[in-house]
Parts: sequence; structure tokens; C-alpha cells
Amino acid sequence: MGDRGGAGGSRRRRTGSRPSSQSGGGPAAAEEEVRAAAPGATGRPPTRTRAAAPTCHRLQDSLFSSDSGFNNYRGILNWCVVMLILSNARLFLENLIKYGILVDPIQVVSLFLKDPYSWPALCLVIGELGAKEALGTVLPPSQGALTEQAGLLLHVLNLATILCFPAAVALLLESITPVGSVLALMVYTILFLKLFSYRDVNLWCRERRARAKPGLTAPRLPVAPAGKKANGGTAQRMVSYPDNLTYRDLYYFLFAPTLCYELNFPRSPRIRKRFLLRRLLEMLFLTQLQVGLIQQWMVPTIQNSMKPFKDMDYSRIIERLLKLAVPNHLIWLIFFYWFFHSCMNAVAELMQFGDREFYRDWWNSESVTYFWQNWNIPVHKWCLRHFYKPMLRRGSSKWVARTGVFFASAFFHEYLVSIPLHMFRLWAFTGMMAQIPLAWIVSRFFQGNYGNAAVWLTLIIGQPVAVLMYVHDYYVLHYEAPVVGA
Ligand SMILES: CC(C)(COP(=O)(O)OP(=O)(O)OC[C@H]1O[C@@H](n2cnc3c(N)ncnc32)[C@H](O)[C@@H]1OP(=O)(O)O)[C@@H](O)C(=O)NCCC(=O)NCCS
Repeated sequence: MGDRGGAGGSRRRRTGSRPSSQSGGGPAAAEEEVRAAAPGATGRPPTRTRAAAPTCHRLQDSLFSSDSGFNNYRGILNWCVVMLILSNARLFLENLIKYGILVDPIQVVSLFLKDPYSWPALCLVIGELGAKEALGTVLPPSQGALTEQAGLLLHVLNLATILCFPAAVALLLESITPVGSVLALMVYTILFLKLFSYRDVNLWCRERRARAKPGLTAPRLPVAPAGKKANGGTAQRMVSYPDNLTYRDLYYFLFAPTLCYELNFPRSPRIRKRFLLRRLLEMLFLTQLQVGLIQQWMVPTIQNSMKPFKDMDYSRIIERLLKLAVPNHLIWLIFFYWFFHSCMNAVAELMQFGDREFYRDWWNSESVTYFWQNWNIPVHKWCLRHFYKPMLRRGSSKWVARTGVFFASAFFHEYLVSIPLHMFRLWAFTGMMAQIPLAWIVSRFFQGNYGNAAVWLTLIIGQPVAVLMYVHDYYVLHYEAPVVGA
């Protein structure tokens, strides 16, 4: 009893020494008595006093006051999850009652093929494997009989062809579908970025060799430490320039889940079969889930958005936009996990590629800059290594270099959308370029949790705006034009 009183007294001292309005008489006076008996007050051990009654009050803040120092909101987080599941279950039911089951796995095939005997997108992707001419453009003059300038010219021609050829096929060929085009153009864009990196790195090696003292042979590189792994991986011999200029090395890089070339990639010692199987199952399941959600949830919402757009009914447009934001965001999150975790890890595991940092904790972004530094690591690394830092080294300011990177990124985003849809509206381009002022606004006006909420809001709302813009324009162009003409 006396002990409890003593503990209460010491707690009171910790929370502050505000005068208690309760003191004066009755139970409070008894409490004072107990306080006086506390070890801190007298220096003696607390003594049991007859007058002391059980205390049930002490000086303390309510939990929601910031002064209370309370921060365990685990239950509230669980409540959010339960509410989220409940409200989405209602949406799910409403959707089923309204539209019936729209998921149709067979219909997915028609997204890739118009004509079962014509597979242009696949032919384009297979054609991409003939990228071996890149090797000729990086061979040192002694081996390839090419001067540095001639090599550069061939390299530029090669890269221009890689971008223009599939674009021309996608624009001119009737039998290619928009989805097939997107996939083919994506593969070619990846090839473009990889070959850009391949030549840069080999050029840096040549320059370093030229700077080294003539007559000095390259030092023998050590063997990578890998022998002592539990799974018994063999040691990996390190390669130095120009021994890396082989088809085997080039094709390993082309298939590896990275855009930045290195002569000696970190390698994992063995293929972990269970890990690989888990990633493959995730890939299968999440592909089905994404397709199902698009067919059942997104397509009807988009279709229902066309009329408000046509009537320019702004309140209904905003309502549609907010309705689309939920499935769009959910699908984007699933896509993130599917691509950056399942697919990239599956490929890396198969190729024993050791560096698995494909994403960082972008979900904690408190600024737009942090988001772009952490969400797509292969692209960010490429931008830094082959665009941003070279520009800074040539004397550009950070602002110019950053704008240059976002301009290039905006170009590729537009390239991947406009050409497959056969319409040039610059929504994707504008969306990427808008990241620069957006980054400034968010960092200027929002910090901490508010910054994090602002980043989430731009992700949740920004994407469906772009989706609706493209769908609306596509709809008007392909389904309304003849009616208007008639
Ligand atoms: C533009 C972009 C590259 C800027 O990156 P950032 O990390 O904000 O740039 P910073 O100014 O912080 O500098 C980054 C690096 O440059 C280095 N650096 C800065 N000034 C430098 C200078 N004058 N000279 C050389 N290096 C310099 C920094 O040390 C840092 O190096 P580190 O990464 O090894 O630590 C980044 O925002 C980006 O990748 N944007 C595009 C993203 C994109 O389009 N993704 C598509 C996804 S679908």
C-alpha cells in the first residue's frame, strides 16, 4: 500500500510538478501523507501510515495528448485494415451484383494477338536478341580495327535503330495490338539502356588503360571469394578489360536484372530451388490477380467515366476519378511487388545474379525526391551513373542535370504509351516533367508524416488522372470520330 503510494509519487515527479488542484483535504490530504512517505521525499523507506487510503488518481495526460508520449497505435492500424477489408468487400459485392463476373482469361489472349497466325510483338522481341552488333562497337581499335570515332558512330546508329525500328513496326503494322506493342517497346527500351551502359563502361576501361603507364601490364585480378558458401559454390574468376568482350559476357548482361554493366557482377553461389519456386508461384498468382482486377474492377469504372467526360460534368468526373483511384492504386501496388520482387528475384536467382537491391523503402518517402531515389533502383542507378553524374562532371548545375534526367525519363514514358496507342497527347510526358515542381512544392510545404501523406496522395490521385486522360482520348479517337463525321 505504502509502496504503491511511493511509486505514484515518483511517477508524478516525472510527469511534471504542476500544482494539484485536488490537494487540500480528505483523500488528497491522505495522498499527500503517502507522498511525504515516499523514498524520494524523505530519504527513508516509505512507512505505512494509517490515514493512507488506496489512491486511484495521479497527475497524468490523456493518451491522445502529445505530452503523454504514448505512441502505440497498433490496434488502430488493425482497425484500419479491418475497415479497409470491410469496405472493399462491400465494393466487391456491389461490383459483382452490378456487372456479374467479367473475368475472362481467354479474352486476355486477344490483348496480345489480333490474328492467331501473326505474332509481330513476339517476333520483335526475338529479333532483339540479335544485339550482338553492340560488341563490334566497343571492341578496342587493336581488336576491332575501328577507331574510337567510328565505334561511336556505329554505336549511335545502333541505338537509334533500337528505338526507331520497333516504333515504326508498332505504328505501321495493323496486326500488332497496343499491349503487344508496349511489351515489345519495353524490351527494346531496356536493350537501349543496357547497350548505352555497356559502351560507357568499356570506354571508361579503355580510358583508364590509356592513362596507365605504357608498357605496364594490367594487374592480375584476384579470384572472387565464394568458395566457403554452405551450398558449395565455386570461386569466380575476375575478368579484366578487354577479356570481358565476349558474346557470353554480353548476353549474360542482356538477361541479367540490371541496366548497369559491370565487368564482374556479384554472383550468388547457387540457385535456391525453394526460393525460385516461391517467386514463380507469386508471378503466376499475381499475374492472374492483376488481370482479374483490371477486367472486373477497372474496365467497368473506366467505361462509366466516358459519359461525364463527354458532358464535361466536373463533379461526376471527380467522383469517377476517385472511384478509379482505388483499384488503380491497388493494381499498381500488386504490380510493384510482382515486378520488382517476384519477377526480378526469379530472373536473378536463375542467373545467380547477386545484387538483389531492386527497390528500397519508397513507401516511407517524405519527399518526392526520396520516392524517385528509391522506387525503381535499376533505372535510378542507370540515371545516376550514365546521365546525372556525367552531366555534373561536365559542369552542369544539379538543377539542369536533374531536369535533363526527368526529361529523358518523360520521353521514354511517352514513347511507351503514345506509340502503342497511336496517339500523341503528352500526358505521360507532362506527368513525369511535373515531378520537378511537385518535388519542390512537397519539400517546401510538407515535412515528416505530412510529406509522406502528400507523396501517397500524388501517387494515388496522379496515376488515375493520366489513365483517364489517355482512355478518354483513345475512346474519342477510335469510337466517336466516325459518329461525329456522320
Ligand atoms: C535525377 C536523379 C538521378 C537525382 O538523383 P538524386 O539522388 O536526387 O541526386 P543527388 O543530387 O542527391 O546526388 C546523387 C549522387 O550524385 C553525387 N553527386 C552530387 N553532386 C555531384 C557532383 N558535383 N559531381 C559528382 N557527383 C555528384 C552524390 O554524391 C550522390 O552520389 P551517391 O548516389 O553515390 O551517394 C533521380 O531523381 C532520378 O533517378 N530520377 C529519375 C527517376 C526515374 O525517372 N525513374 C523512372 C522510374 S519508372
